[in-house]
Amino acid sequence: MIRSFTRRNGRITAGQERALASLWPHYGVNLEGILDLNTLFGRSAEKHLEIGFGMGDTLVTMAQSHPEHDYLGIDVYRPGTGHLLLQIAEAQLTNVRVISGDVVDFLQDNLSSPCLDAVYLFFPDPWSKKRHHKRRLVQAHFMTLLAQRMTSGSSFHVATDWENYAEHMLDVLDASPDFIKSTIPKRPLTKFEQRGRRLGHGVWDFFYQRN
Ligand SMILES: C[S@@+](CC[C@H](N)C(=O)[O-])C[C@H]1O[C@@H](n2cnc3c(N)ncnc32)[C@H](O)[C@@H]1O
Repeated sequence: MIRSFTRRNGRITAGQERALASLWPHYGVNLEGILDLNTLFGRSAEKHLEIGFGMGDTLVTMAQSHPEHDYLGIDVYRPGTGHLLLQIAEAQLTNVRVISGDVVDFLQDNLSSPCLDAVYLFFPDPWSKKRHHKRRLVQAHFMTLLAQRMTSGSSFHVATDWENYAEHMLDVLDASPDFIKSTIPKRPLTKFEQRGRRLGHGVWDFFYQRN
C-alpha cells in the first residue's frame, strides 16, 4: 500500500517520551475493532477529527475554544504525539483523544457508520515531486472513504501552502459527488504554516460540506 508518510525518527525529548508512557493511558486511543465515539468521550457531542496534527497546537487551540465539541487527533509522528499529550494534560482538557496511526487504516478499520461532524486537514505533506504525487492524501479514493465516515452537513477544512497541491485538491473535491464548496471559516495558524509564512509561502484554504 502507498502511504502518505515516511517513518521519521525525529528527535524525541525525554519529556515527550515520558508523556507517551504516562499520559497515553489517559488520552490515547488503543485501536481494536469499531469505535463508538460517544462511549469513548463519555457523552454525546459533535465529533471533530484533525488529520496530521503535527505538534498538536492547533488541535489544543480548537478544543479550548470549543469545549462543547469532542476532538480526535491522529498522526504517526511520535514526538508530536508526546508534545500533544503534554499540552492536553497541562490545559486539563477533557474533550481531546489521541490516535497514533495512519488515518487511512483508522477510517477503514475503526469507524463504520457516519460519525464525524467536522474534519480538518491542515498542511498535509505536499509530496512535491511528480513521481510522489500518488502519496498525497487528498485523492478521489481517500475522499470517498472519508465521506463515508462523515455525517450529512458535516464539514471538511483543508489547507496547503503548495500551489500545485491546491490545484489538485480543487480538482478532486470539485469532482466529488459527496462534497459541496462552502464559505471558509476562520482557523488558528498552524506550526507548519508559521514556518512557511516566514519563507514567504502562499496559503490556500478550502472548505466543503458533506451533502
Ligand atoms: C506537514 S505536517 C503538518 C502538521 C500540522 N497540521 C501543521 O500544520 O503544523 C503533516 C503531518 O501529517 C502527518 N501525516 C501524514 N500522513 C498521515 C497519515 N496517513 N495519517 C496520519 N497522519 C499523517 C505527518 O506525520 C505530519 O505530522
